[in-house]
Amino acid sequence: MNLIYIYLLCICAVILGIRFMSSPQTASLGAGVSGFAMFLAIVSDFVPVPQNALYLISAIILGALTGSLLGSKIKITSLPQMVALLNGLGGGAVVCIAIGDMHIFSFALVIGSIIGAITFSGSAVAFGKLQGFLPTFNFRLLNPMVLNSLFLCIIAFFTIMLHHQIPPVYFSALLVFSFFWGIFMVMPIGGADMPIIISILNALSGWTSVAVGFAQQNILLIAVGSIIGIGGIFLARIMIKATNTSLLKLLNRPATGTIAEHTHKQNAQTISAQDAAFIMKNADKIIIVPGFGMAAASAQHALKNMGNILRNKFSVDVKYAIHPVAGRMPGHMNVLLAEADVDYEEVFELDDINREFSETDIAYVIGANDITNPDAINNPQSVLYGMPILDVQKAKTVIFVKRSLSSGYSGVENPLFFAPNTFMLYGDAKKMTEEVDKFLEQ
Ligand code: TAP
Repeated sequence: MNLIYIYLLCICAVILGIRFMSSPQTASLGAGVSGFAMFLAIVSDFVPVPQNALYLISAIILGALTGSLLGSKIKITSLPQMVALLNGLGGGAVVCIAIGDMHIFSFALVIGSIIGAITFSGSAVAFGKLQGFLPTFNFRLLNPMVLNSLFLCIIAFFTIMLHHQIPPVYFSALLVFSFFWGIFMVMPIGGADMPIIISILNALSGWTSVAVGFAQQNILLIAVGSIIGIGGIFLARIMIKATNTSLLKLLNRPATGTIAEHTHKQNAQTISAQDAAFIMKNADKIIIVPGFGMAAASAQHALKNMGNILRNKFSVDVKYAIHPVAGRMPGHMNVLLAEADVDYEEVFELDDINREFSETDIAYVIGANDITNPDAINNPQSVLYGMPILDVQKAKTVIFVKRSLSSGYSGVENPLFFAPNTFMLYGDAKKMTEEVDKFLEQ
């Protein structure tokens, strides 16, 4: 059978899979179709049967077992880290291919291995930061602009030196410098910039496959890599717009710390679950704003239950508002609300709902913090300054469900906690929402 037909089928399945994944109703089908595309891609490696088929089969079985184990064991709260890790593995795989093919000089392979090494180390750092064991680190000795330019020049120098052949020393130096560039590039990035760098790493994992596809004249790698690469660029564009920044600013601004000093000189007003339930059932309109804490607590089912009771028993108009960088990965909140079967018609993006807060009785902010911080609009000194926020402060009453007055991912305090119309419902997001549900049901 001609390989080109398998490739074509595979490419169509990838595109169809992504198309299906764009709606929660067809997302599972999309995952199935994409899995089928992957299966076809693997099959294509055996047409014709290669000499090292046994090695290939062993590697495939090992990869499949690891993937299934990771996929089944991973907690939904750790999904962002897993996505970062998988991006990195794509880059690492390309570096391995390049090392194996080092004897055949190809400019595409060199470019692919540079991008691959950057993607690998950058994603590893992103994984560590999302997992919480790597801090945001400022390399104080060198300005980020100088540091990035220096790496660019060194890598360009070694690339030029690889003229028509790949001496192992130069090639190794190239890989080492690219590897360190990835680390130094991602390490200082924190706060509202993290979603952008994750999208960029995602795009790079696609482009590295394209480069290796050119080197190996593999149409499938070129086509699928381009889809991932372009998708990542679009995602990065959306995130850049959502946080109101630019790529140049992102790569050249000094680190934004994620560890904050919490002084909490002011007192915040508190509310009990019973009182929250009371004012909520007497409201006409409520907007629910989920954030990372909802994911951490897996509160989406209790939240969906709350929305249902309020709507069906008390005729309250309930909507969900999603900020593009809420949580820890693009679409994080959408995935969780879809998992809880929240009707997609009730879920609104920032631009579509923001003006409705001023006519809303209650904003129920569950495990969200940075995406509601008014300093992003009012305080030019804030690391969040410039990022559009969900205007929850315009609602008549704001209820924050969180465990303390601690900051969010960006590490900055949220002055909204101390506003006269804000009440803190302290506790785990799931536990407190279940309590509210209990009082609503009584
Ligand atoms: P955050 O600002 O990170 O705030 C989350 C809040 O959830 C924390 O203040 C925490 O307060 C609370 N929380 C944690 N566990 C909880 C639990 N079990 N129950 C109740 N509350 C809990 O989240 P956000 O508002 O969603 O904003 C997202 C932030 O992450 C942005 O700064 C964004 O730039 C960044 N980021 C986003 C992404 C993507 S792609 N979306 C990727 C990386 C970083 P307590 O400790 O007081 O409970």
